Amino acid sequence: MTEQYLLMMPQKVFSGSNALEQIETIVKKQYKKAAVFTDKGVRNSGITDYPVKILEQCNLDIVVYDELPSEPTCDEAQKVIDEFRKSGADFIIAMGGGSVMDVAKLASITCTDTYSVRDLLDSPLSGKKQVKTLLIPTTAGTGSEATPNSIVTVPEKNLKVGIVNPEMLPDAVILDGRMLKGLPEKIAASTGMDALAHAIECYTSNKANPFSNLFALEALKLIFDNIIPACENRNAVEEKNNMLLAAFYAGAAITASGTTAVHALSYPLGGRYHIPHGISNAIMLLPVLKFNRIACRKEFGQIYDAVTGERDKKSPDEKADWILNRIGTIINRLEIPTSLKSFGIGASDLEALVQDGMEVKRLLNNNKREVTAADARCIYQEVM
Ligand SMILES: NC(=O)c1ccc[n+]([C@@H]2O[C@H](COP(=O)([O-])OP(=O)(O)OC[C@H]3O[C@@H](n4cnc5c(N)ncnc54)[C@H](O)[C@@H]3O)[C@@H](O)[C@H]2O)c1
Ligand SMILES: [Zn+2]
Repeated sequence: MTEQYLLMMPQKVFSGSNALEQIETIVKKQYKKAAVFTDKGVRNSGITDYPVKILEQCNLDIVVYDELPSEPTCDEAQKVIDEFRKSGADFIIAMGGGSVMDVAKLASITCTDTYSVRDLLDSPLSGKKQVKTLLIPTTAGTGSEATPNSIVTVPEKNLKVGIVNPEMLPDAVILDGRMLKGLPEKIAASTGMDALAHAIECYTSNKANPFSNLFALEALKLIFDNIIPACENRNAVEEKNNMLLAAFYAGAAITASGTTAVHALSYPLGGRYHIPHGISNAIMLLPVLKFNRIACRKEFGQIYDAVTGERDKKSPDEKADWILNRIGTIINRLEIPTSLKSFGIGASDLEALVQDGMEVKRLLNNNKREVTAADARCIYQEVM
């Protein structure tokens, strides 16, 4: 039987030591004015100073947009894009986490045309690339720099909605661990768990295929080996580089496969209760993997073989135990939240969560084990 695989990826990726210095190569006297998309948290940490200095040395005019809130609504994204539209900039550089990169990607396809971000919610493919983009992630989490996706909150629906359009794939990406140096440990940990969730969900997804599996397994190996030192040690630049590669690979896996019930059940936590994306996925990850265990024995075994390099030393059950314990150890060590209590969410919220979670059918359909409303209720109850 012929299979068809969906492959989409940015064409230029610079990674590792001195990657930031490649800004000069990318810009190469092609542009006049660069719009820098970032946010206050990233800018105040000081990490944008050096890349901006390189841009200045390339004789570019620079305009900086740093007013973007975390996990913006479609209207908040539009506000920044409206400002940017007046700038006359012919190049976009995003320095930030998924929130910043997603808005920069939307800006690149909405800056000269009449349609808005809200229009793209209904007809995502109407957007065409108008300004080239360079994305420089400052969290090793979402993998937005590798995907054609942009996620915004739609406030009246209490939902986060993904806009998918291949025109939003960045023209260049820089993965440089120095950009993660000032990232607070708690944010590094929860965003790293988001990348872990992407990789393991894609590997165990109904949409998994040989191409997405390559990226997902490589991401998992890198994350298991690097997440703890990358989060705990400010100067562990090599481990941070590896986490950035892992997040990119996991993003590539999402494009070729798809996430499953972890992301499906975490969406209402972001949309309705505004829990940050990384934290909500980190909270849902273990309960959903435990639920899926019975349907994913083969995949858990294959992940064990790949990340440990061992084969045939353990039974399938022991391998699944090892994976779940390893994730549990990372969660404990990095003090990642495991309960919704600290976010003020309790029994009275249960039915709304179940209802909203069950609406995310697109991702629930990817889950190897069917999730009924009763299952979703049990999974949410576990984290209350
Ligand atoms: N497009 C995609 O493929 C994709 C995939 C998954 C998630 N997302 C979306 O991405 C968003 C989440 O992105 P995120 O998890 O990267 O977090 P984020 O971009 O919201 O950033 C979280 C916080 O960390 C701060 N921060 C980021 N980098 C920093 C640094 N190096 N130093 C100091 N502070 C720093 C920011 O200022 C912010 O306050 C959500 O909206 C989510 O839905 C997109
Ligand atoms: Zn995610």
